[in-house]
Amino acid sequence: MSNILIDYKNQIAYLTINRPKALNALNKDIFDELKAFFKEGYQEYDDLAGVIITGSGDKAFAAGADIKEFLPLMEQDNPPNLSKRGQDIFFLIERFHKPVIALVNGFALGGGLELAMSCHIRIATPNAKFGLPETNLGLIPGYGGTIRLASLIGKARATELMITAGMIDAATAEKFGLASYVLEAEEAIAKAEKIISTSSTKGPTAVAKCLEQVFHPKSDYISEHEYFTVLLQSEECREGVSAFLEKRKPNF
Ligand code: CAA
Repeated sequence: MSNILIDYKNQIAYLTINRPKALNALNKDIFDELKAFFKEGYQEYDDLAGVIITGSGDKAFAAGADIKEFLPLMEQDNPPNLSKRGQDIFFLIERFHKPVIALVNGFALGGGLELAMSCHIRIATPNAKFGLPETNLGLIPGYGGTIRLASLIGKARATELMITAGMIDAATAEKFGLASYVLEAEEAIAKAEKIISTSSTKGPTAVAKCLEQVFHPKSDYISEHEYFTVLLQSEECREGVSAFLEKRKPNF
């Protein structure tokens, strides 16, 4: 991969979008590389416990889809469906079986915010700025942003942000629930690492089922009782319950 740097340490894959001169704008190669990692590339990493996605440099997480790729497509009779391509790749991230955390270290705009919102958790640095400014371009967010932003911060706030192409700062994003924490860069990484390493000590099937239940439930209550029943009969749960009763740490 050349547009995304991958580093693997202590069971965590660190994915860094690496086009700092273009504020990490998401071009076709970046989409292809994200797809390759989340579809099967992650299998190369033994005992993967989670993924942290961030942007290279100190200015941007990602300032959106690469606008420079739009013009040639507008001239084609049958352009590829960019929106569907982005949605499908971001579904792979949202439906990943291990926690994926976005470390938002600057602008997260348009497709960049949509990428951050497809992650399970967002942690921001104080300079982070969030927005879906596609209406400036005569477009709407196309990678799931209209739906995910409304579900994260409520319809009224999401509508205002989109129809005014506004931007909110890190403190406001935290207040709205878009970012879980605002922390200086080193503490933000440490926090993300701690969440992943703590979750790696829990039942792995239970962790995967929590993610599935929150982000793509079959039908909220039906899948909750189905998973609960399956887990209650599993070795994983037998070990967790036995460990509690025997006053020891579970060995999953
Ligand atoms: N696509 C392509 N290039 C981009 C880009 C983008 N989304 N955002 C920034 N860049 C490039 C700029 O063109 C510039 O390149 P050059 O030096 O070659 O001119 C470089 O990054 C630095 O950017 P600026 O000089 O503009 O930096 P700034 O600090 O003055 O402004 C900014 C920063 C406010 C983020 C501004 O760059 C900006 O508004 N970017 C566009 C944001 C945007 O509209 N995002 C939505 C894209 S559409 C989308 O994402 C579609 C979708 O949902 C499907």
